[in-house]
Amino acid sequence: MDFLTLFAIYVVVVLTCIILVCKYSGQQQTPFGILYDSVVKTVAPFTPKWLQKFSQWSLHRLFHQRNNMFIYLHILLEGAVYAEFTYEVFGFCREMDTSLTSLSVPYVLLTIKTFFFYLCIRRDPGTVTKKKVAGQLHIYPYDRRLFHPGVSCPTCQLVKPARSKHCRVCNRCVQRFDHHCVWVNNCIGAQNTRYFLLYLFSVCAMAGDVALLTGDMLLHAVLRSGLLRASYLDEYGEQQPAGPMFVVQHLFLTFPRIVFMLGFLIFVFFLLAGYALFHSYLAVVNQTSNEWYKSRGYVCQHCHPTAAADNLCSPAPDHSKRYYYSRGLLRNLGEIFFPPQPVQKKDN
Ligand SMILES: *[C@@H]1O[C@H](CO)[C@@H](O)[C@H](O)[C@H]1NC(C)=O
Ligand SMILES: [Zn+2]
Ligand SMILES: [Zn+2]
Repeated sequence: MDFLTLFAIYVVVVLTCIILVCKYSGQQQTPFGILYDSVVKTVAPFTPKWLQKFSQWSLHRLFHQRNNMFIYLHILLEGAVYAEFTYEVFGFCREMDTSLTSLSVPYVLLTIKTFFFYLCIRRDPGTVTKKKVAGQLHIYPYDRRLFHPGVSCPTCQLVKPARSKHCRVCNRCVQRFDHHCVWVNNCIGAQNTRYFLLYLFSVCAMAGDVALLTGDMLLHAVLRSGLLRASYLDEYGEQQPAGPMFVVQHLFLTFPRIVFMLGFLIFVFFLLAGYALFHSYLAVVNQTSNEWYKSRGYVCQHCHPTAAADNLCSPAPDHSKRYYYSRGLLRNLGEIFFPPQPVQKKDN
């Protein structure tokens, strides 16, 4: 395959990944969501009806019903990266005398990550149930701005505790609701936000570490090839030093899969690092993503009619106020890592 074709495939795949991740990593009201919707609107007149129907149906299946698709996709991508790392990079690094200890770090991180990933999937995020609701109501006071007392969920028919929200995908109300994460096919709420944070950090560490080892390997490959000192004859017969484009082309042609993987890892690393930082910020200021969006008026009955059933912001969103109640860093983190448990009423 020639360089240009390979490069074109590479760019297309990376762009597709970016678009998919941006569209589906969270809320509908993000700038990317708006961009996506407008793209769909422009393309719609040129696509046949059945295709539109089909894509709507599959989007609904994928994103509005619980399913394990993204968990499998996650495992598949991870498997591909680790297979590539083990079969190509590992051997090369051993040849250049990278110590076994540093080469085993990615596998240790993989184990840690898998553990938190499992807990995120398995842990109940804090479902509001008939039995527990009395205790759950007492955990947080209503702030009367984002959450009002006495509002019931029309679906679950239970009074909504402050900071809870009904998840449309799982069809249940969740205590201290953060968001529904398709990657773990579960809501992130009071009882699993800590695992979600640790999961994010371990994925970042994993992607970062594998990327560093791979980058190091490619650097050594370039140094070894002597390309930096090489030169070529241009059309006037003069000697020109081989520039960075030569090096990039050489790497692409010699190690296409490794370069591809490195690009993917760097992309994943920066995306998740940004996301992990955002969630750390929220943890530190004692706020959930749900409250963050609401207090900015992103989800509000004025612009989002279906949300009217939720206990949402009073008349108009007020952007000048801070809607969080921080009792200091340690206490806020303490609440995430040792979430308050609902006191169960003993019924005799
Ligand atoms: C976090 O904020 C809630 C209100 O949203 C408040 O009731 C709670 O006491 C706060 N917790 C800490 C540890 O500050
Ligand atoms: Zn509900
Ligand atoms: Zn959910």
